[in-house]
Amino acid sequence: MKQIDQHRQEAFVQQLFSSIAKRYDILNALFTLNQDTYWRNFAAAKAALKEDNSVLDVCCGTGKLSLSLAKYLGVGGQIISLDFSESMLLEAKQNIQKSPYQQKITLMQGNALKLPFAENCFDCTTIGFGLRNVSDIKSTLEEMYRVTKPGGTVLSLDLSKPSAPIFKQLYYLYFENLLPFLGNLGFTKNHPYYNLPASLKTLPHQSVIANIFSQVGLQQVTYHQLTGGIATVHLGKK
Ligand SMILES: C[S@@+](CC[C@H](N)C(=O)[O-])C[C@H]1O[C@@H](n2cnc3c(N)ncnc32)[C@H](O)[C@@H]1O
Repeated sequence: MKQIDQHRQEAFVQQLFSSIAKRYDILNALFTLNQDTYWRNFAAAKAALKEDNSVLDVCCGTGKLSLSLAKYLGVGGQIISLDFSESMLLEAKQNIQKSPYQQKITLMQGNALKLPFAENCFDCTTIGFGLRNVSDIKSTLEEMYRVTKPGGTVLSLDLSKPSAPIFKQLYYLYFENLLPFLGNLGFTKNHPYYNLPASLKTLPHQSVIANIFSQVGLQQVTYHQLTGGIATVHLGKK
């Protein structure tokens, strides 16, 4: 039964992202007031990559986090960017072709919950705005842990829950007012951006995500809250 639910949710998420792939980058910039680029660059710096590292970027979408990470790699450094949506991967291909990092990034279609790699393959495994979308956060982190080398890093960047009282109220006010706006733009109730406010409320708090990092075996778990806690970068070592 759990498996059927998982397959259903995955099919739903896959279809949702396929439907917005062409507009994903612009919508992201619009709804985060262009903070998403700063968040990805912050996360990439925190990954503390060495020039020759091998990196897996899970749920890579249009490749924006992979591109931020690629800046830190030299000759011999490689990123595999994996996503299950063919349409998002097509957008990633175009973004990567426009960048100086074509030789460093390889795109691959695959499922975050069943990574097609042996144990201990990567120096660093990342996921950007992906934990909110997978059907099982813990299983995804277990998979990321499995394919990371001992001593390697697992990193997640995602939206999170702001804590400061006034800021928190303003933030939810922003999202609640976004809904009618999205309705006017023709986004339906099954659209990922229409569902964003609800998905943010059901997302576990950043402290809970940190606990899950520890539960899967990661050590030295830390997290950095950005823009008043709107986004958080979690890090752990295998
Ligand atoms: C919000 S986008 C994030 C894209 C990108 N990482 C970024 O920084 O903008 C989430 C992505 O996760 C992918 N995704 C969701 N569940 C997945 C799974 N189980 N396996 C692989 N990709 C998945 C979706 O197809 C989508 O491209």
